[in-house]
Amino acid sequence: MRVDCLTLFPEMFESPLSHSILKRAQEKGAVEIVLSNIRDFATDDYKKVDDKPYGGGPGMVMMPGPVFDCFEHVEKLSPEKGRVILLTPQGQKFNQAKAVELSKEKRLILISGRYEGFDERIRTGLGAEQISIGDYVNSGGELAAMVLIDAVVRLLEGVLGDEDSSKDDSFSNGLLEYPQYTRPEVFRDMKVPEILLSGDHGKIAEWRRKQSLERTREQRPDLLEE
Ligand code: ADE
Repeated sequence: MRVDCLTLFPEMFESPLSHSILKRAQEKGAVEIVLSNIRDFATDDYKKVDDKPYGGGPGMVMMPGPVFDCFEHVEKLSPEKGRVILLTPQGQKFNQAKAVELSKEKRLILISGRYEGFDERIRTGLGAEQISIGDYVNSGGELAAMVLIDAVVRLLEGVLGDEDSSKDDSFSNGLLEYPQYTRPEVFRDMKVPEILLSGDHGKIAEWRRKQSLERTREQRPDLLEE
């Protein structure tokens, strides 16, 4: 998979992309992540990328020119068409099902905004879909883009060491994950549930399923309704 990130702050991506699973995924060639700075496509001496909203109101709006020029440059870097996504609180809420859907694409082109938002013609003119990572407002779309990349890339084949290790993740079966324990068997008087030490895999699976359901009912009843 190829992921292009269009942003005013490419440096923000550097640390998350150079550690742990995202680092390994790139080293293995499962994903190529390419950062492009929208400001490089500003056309005036001040490198202006935003302006006041028509009709008045607070804040600044990202101008279409630099974003379109950056997009058209990036688009030509690879023959694959790519799915174009704007990160914005106005988008559809991101979830595991969306991550699975996006993990099947050959190319994603992610556009992160700053300021009060994008000139609407960016969305309509680029035919972009909009994704939000939750019902709150971040200072820009960069963190959202990184959240999306992380959730998608760990699903790509060969990225996680054990092929099974995303199978039991929370949400992968519509439920929250069951509780996990590791050594020691007793920690500050708190014991690991006996069943997990029993070696009876059938019973363990049944216990985990029950725990998953119970936890989901307690913490996220909305998931059960879905
Ligand atoms: N930009 C600012 N807040 C955001 C959010 N919640 N999701 C996606 N992009 C954003």
